[in-house]
Amino acid sequence: MPGHLEGKNVAVTGGGGGIGKAIALACADEGARVVVADYGVAMDGSSPSSEVADAAVAEIRSRGGEAISVAGDVSEFDVGEQIVAAACDTWGTIDGVVCPAGVLRERMLFNMTEDEWDAVIAVHLKGHFNIFRAAMARMRKQPTGGSLVGFTSGAFTASTAQANYSAAKGGVVSLTRSAAMTAASLRLRGGPAINANCIAPVARTRMSENVPFEIETGEPEDIAPMAIYLMSDAGRDVNAQIYTVVGRRISVWNQPIEVRTMWAGGDRWSPADIAATLPGTIGQEPNPFIADLERRMSEMAAAKEAES
Ligand SMILES: NC(=O)c1ccc[n+]([C@@H]2O[C@H](COP(=O)([O-])OP(=O)(O)OC[C@H]3O[C@@H](n4cnc5c(N)ncnc54)[C@H](O)[C@@H]3O)[C@@H](O)[C@H]2O)c1
Repeated sequence: MPGHLEGKNVAVTGGGGGIGKAIALACADEGARVVVADYGVAMDGSSPSSEVADAAVAEIRSRGGEAISVAGDVSEFDVGEQIVAAACDTWGTIDGVVCPAGVLRERMLFNMTEDEWDAVIAVHLKGHFNIFRAAMARMRKQPTGGSLVGFTSGAFTASTAQANYSAAKGGVVSLTRSAAMTAASLRLRGGPAINANCIAPVARTRMSENVPFEIETGEPEDIAPMAIYLMSDAGRDVNAQIYTVVGRRISVWNQPIEVRTMWAGGDRWSPADIAATLPGTIGQEPNPFIADLERRMSEMAAAKEAES
């Protein structure tokens, strides 16, 4: 039986480790030729090495697949083009890009350094821009279009000790929705079918192993089928969606919309009128992460006590 990505050329950033590696291997098993793009860094982005990308390529080849490596830093604008060009120059097209490359620099917002902020925004948010931009420029000229698959996190809704990461992942969501809207407008003008969607994964990798509270989790291999579906012909009409993928569970996120409205009696609201009206009318919308904060904090305190 032909694979779900038979004849397609895809690039996977972070394809040498964790979730990205599981996706790169699964894409090859499904018939894709794969650019493994990985800078081979430690979890904080230090100590780059080309060995990680090369090892994943060797593993794909040993299973009978076709792959090449690009060991550049996705936060560099030119590397986005290099990754996409590697597929196009070698095999003729770029049919899908998947972007799980990522780093972490944890710190409370009030202690965070400029470097910790910049590094995380650069790899996650600018990294997605660099690849999406280069890929879409080619895909819009290919009759077969293509697929953009971003990687966000449930932490895009809020995070206590990872404001940089949360902001970057929120940026990835908005960037992906914008790419999806651009793709839809191209299609309305008779262009090829391009889709852009995000996966919010949870899986046991080095990145998740230090989470200090109980989380629902699974394996990196559980994430790959969704990435493959979104790039396959069967998934091409899925656009502008965010899917959580963890273990056996896949959930779709809602689209951000206004949910309640209040109107001023006169020309505009005064602070006093807002204070008098807002609590009993439009009120607040609960943030699930803040709502769960008490449980997380008591689990963290218990873990710390068990350590000492
Ligand atoms: N593991 C989880 O539970 C979890 C939860 C939510 C979101 N995510 C997201 O999923 C994605 C994959 O996470 P993971 O757990 O597999 O992480 P990981 O640390 O295991 O793997 C990340 C890979 O990205 C590569 N990388 C890092 N910076 C790079 C750069 N500048 N250029 C190119 N490659 C680079 C690393 O070398 C590594 O191979 C990340 O975007 C992460 O934020 C993961």
